[in-house]
Amino acid sequence: MVKGIEITGPLVTIDLALTIPGCPLKSFFQEALPARVKAEFESITDVKINLGSMSEEERQALVGGIKQETPVAFADPSSATTVIAVGSGKGGVGKSTVTVNLAAELARRGHSVGLLDADIWGFSIPRLIGNTTMPTVIDKKLIVPVEAYGFKVISVGNLVPEDQPIPMRGPMLHKFLQQFLSDVHWEEPEYLLIDMPPGTGDITISLGQFLPQASFVSVTTPQQAAEKVAERAVHAISKVGLRIAGVIENMSWSICDQCGERTYPFGSGGGKELADRFAVPLLGQIPLDPPMRDFADHGKPTVIALPDSPSAQAFVGIVDQLTGVLPPKPKGSKPRKMLPLIMQGAGDGHGHEHHHH
Ligand SMILES: Nc1ncnc2c1ncn2[C@@H]1O[C@H](COP(=O)(O)OP(=O)(O)O)[C@@H](O)[C@H]1O
Ligand SMILES: [Mg+2]
Repeated sequence: MVKGIEITGPLVTIDLALTIPGCPLKSFFQEALPARVKAEFESITDVKINLGSMSEEERQALVGGIKQETPVAFADPSSATTVIAVGSGKGGVGKSTVTVNLAAELARRGHSVGLLDADIWGFSIPRLIGNTTMPTVIDKKLIVPVEAYGFKVISVGNLVPEDQPIPMRGPMLHKFLQQFLSDVHWEEPEYLLIDMPPGTGDITISLGQFLPQASFVSVTTPQQAAEKVAERAVHAISKVGLRIAGVIENMSWSICDQCGERTYPFGSGGGKELADRFAVPLLGQIPLDPPMRDFADHGKPTVIALPDSPSAQAFVGIVDQLTGVLPPKPKGSKPRKMLPLIMQGAGDGHGHEHHHH
């Protein structure tokens, strides 16, 4: 941190406070800084650097500031990632199943895809993709997501055992979501799908804060009750400023094994009604498909395991619609963020890569 600058004719004196007395950037400030200043300003011929170190208080303030400002790269207007949150009013409507199949189908078409499981308490993504391995963590900070069916995944379920309870309050959920958005090495995929927890809780508000330009897809079942709950959830989402991209109706009908006829065990019309209310497209209807549940239990999305099944066909149609409403953004010319492997030894674990100001 710069404590003072004094200019006396051609002489500049700079007082610097290092984060710690033995800061490895010491020699950089002693040598490179004078050279830079002289190169920049012709009239300056002499640069004196006084090095001190920060007080504990100054250091705390600095670290606190950096932590609070951890940027969410997806929130940058120049980000090439289209973020789609998949949510519903209540659980059990097939939200996670839908999210996994959308991810798998997008990846199958050659899109780069990330799937973030924001259902912190009720996570189910690792089981649905059959991957419960722990991600690699570099330098205690950067999480390398696990992979399945050509897309990248992060879930609390990849960080803790499935049967371990996670007592968490609102602020901790907020922190988890922030960490998943900014500390995971997503590499700017074309699509980032977020499996939302049911309802309109803290995560919805956090999402609105972190990613105000994300889109939202609502999953609902055909019956009225589910539709009313879904409506409240969509209202909450539009309140925090997200764009409603469309509605997906799940468990729309059942197909008779023998005669192929459709029956409507959960009624009909809920998805269309919800879509009309918010003037957004009904992206598609997914029939009840019992084999799909069996495959989900064994970690296989229906679009991969049963591509000819009625449910897989429904997902193909939905992805057609979804990529029409939300086409991939053109890749910017922004340089890719590289894994900071070289920093590991050099940084000494003090995080000096942040302190070049
Ligand atoms: N279209 C469908 N046909 C048959 N089973 C389904 C269908 N959609 C979801 N399921 C099953 O319903 C259950 C709940 O789905 P899930 O995706 O976990 O819901 P949510 O994430 O909304 O809580 C799972 O057992 C899943 O396999
Ligand atoms: Mg779920």
